[in-house]
Amino acid sequence: MFKHSQLESVKAWLAHPAHAAMPLHARIQRAIRQLILDGALGPGKPLPASRALASSLGVSRDTIESAYAQLHAEGFIERRVGSGSFVAEMTEFAPGLRRSKRGALLRNPAPNLGKRGDAIFRSGGVREMLMPRPFAPGVPETRSFPLPLWERLQRQVLKEVGTQALLHGDPQGAEPLRRAIADYVNLERGARATADRVVVLTSSQQAMTLCATMLLDPGERIFIEDPAYYGARKAFDAAGLECVPVRVDRQGIVVESIINDPRRAKAACLTPSHQFPTGVTLTLDRRLALIEWAARNQAWIIEDDYDSEFHYAGKPTACVQGLDPHDRTIYIGTFTKSLFPGLRLGYVVLPPQLVKPMTVARTLLDGHTASIAQLTLARFMEGGHFGAHVRTMRGIYAERLDVLAGLVRKHLCEFVEPRVPIGGLQMPCVLTCDIPERAAIDCARRVGVELLGLSELHAAGDGKAGFLMGFAAYTPAELASAVKKLANALQTARGE
Ligand SMILES: Cc1ncc(COP(=O)(O)O)c(C=O)c1O
Repeated sequence: MFKHSQLESVKAWLAHPAHAAMPLHARIQRAIRQLILDGALGPGKPLPASRALASSLGVSRDTIESAYAQLHAEGFIERRVGSGSFVAEMTEFAPGLRRSKRGALLRNPAPNLGKRGDAIFRSGGVREMLMPRPFAPGVPETRSFPLPLWERLQRQVLKEVGTQALLHGDPQGAEPLRRAIADYVNLERGARATADRVVVLTSSQQAMTLCATMLLDPGERIFIEDPAYYGARKAFDAAGLECVPVRVDRQGIVVESIINDPRRAKAACLTPSHQFPTGVTLTLDRRLALIEWAARNQAWIIEDDYDSEFHYAGKPTACVQGLDPHDRTIYIGTFTKSLFPGLRLGYVVLPPQLVKPMTVARTLLDGHTASIAQLTLARFMEGGHFGAHVRTMRGIYAERLDVLAGLVRKHLCEFVEPRVPIGGLQMPCVLTCDIPERAAIDCARRVGVELLGLSELHAAGDGKAGFLMGFAAYTPAELASAVKKLANALQTARGE
């Protein structure tokens, strides 16, 4: 039979309003496929008998049989006469790789990609969990989002703008939203922005891809933090750039190393307000030194300000962009954390000379960002709802961080040391026992708990072993239950 957490994931999939239009057997098939893809159901694991699963889910046995048949047809499960259904061995794969029945890793038949396409495919991209479970990091709480308000504002937009909203929009972004963003970053982040310097995009990820392809040529160098956000590193790798890792200490990225590096680099990408994943803040003297370096070398600073709405000890430090009198800084913001990831809205504040080139470049990616969502968000911001939502969530997240830190100290003190951050949606923990990081992560996943390893975020995979624990999207009760599961899993890992 499925474990409780697995059964709950399947039930959540079935109940999710976004899946309501799908036939029941397809929803069950997709839910189980997701468990397999997320690694919650490993290769060789038995699936429940169809009769038992039908009774747990309150559906007919035929429905389960159809779901299993489809999973079988797609190669996700094997069906053995007399003994039941099992997750297929080949599902333990990295992109481009599959496992043979004997366990050997084989390359999938080459899809005839170019060298760059092959490298991008093999990087695995940036795939977020569709149904996040504790402690998937970087996920905001979406269950309490004021949907009726959003819906009302969207209705107003459709009523006032009418069918105009159905046509193509400005590739730079809807003017009311650009104005609202400029006002917001000026007031809250100390930026120097005007609406005509803002380009609305789909995400920070898109902003990084645009910077990588428009500001640098393949083979050119870019300084990145070590450890770094994997999404940024993958965007730069995909563009064929040479990423030069720069150590991060308690004061943020070591700017001195950048200044003293004899190899020229065209840009530096960093998360100065809240370094990913360590959580440290870049000090003012280093910010100023970096700005001077960029001006002297005609280099770009790419500032990823992904979650500074959520600082719990006073205000976050002002952004680098606002301090830079030389216009060498590209400020990247996103609504993925401050509102909800499904919105797919991010933005850049650009030096004036980059606005036209970047706007032209984005037309080749996706034309423009969806107009109705942009206009709805503009109203949400103009009406003061964005500020109010962020303030509410800040209070909730601060409490959840407190709860998680307390739980980790109580139940996991023999395994890890928490590094309680001043902000953000996740807490780093350093392993203090002799359990290897990979074993800890695997054991946790087997009991339905997600951890993001710290050492894989380091350039050479040699950083301090540990993991990130996302807390924002989970209630105190969910955090408590997951910490207890994790404590048991780590005990098991120690015994192995
Ligand atoms: C450091 C950092 N930058 C950017 C992002 C992603 O934002 P977006 O969804 O806008 O690409 C994340 C999300 O996990 C992040 O952790």
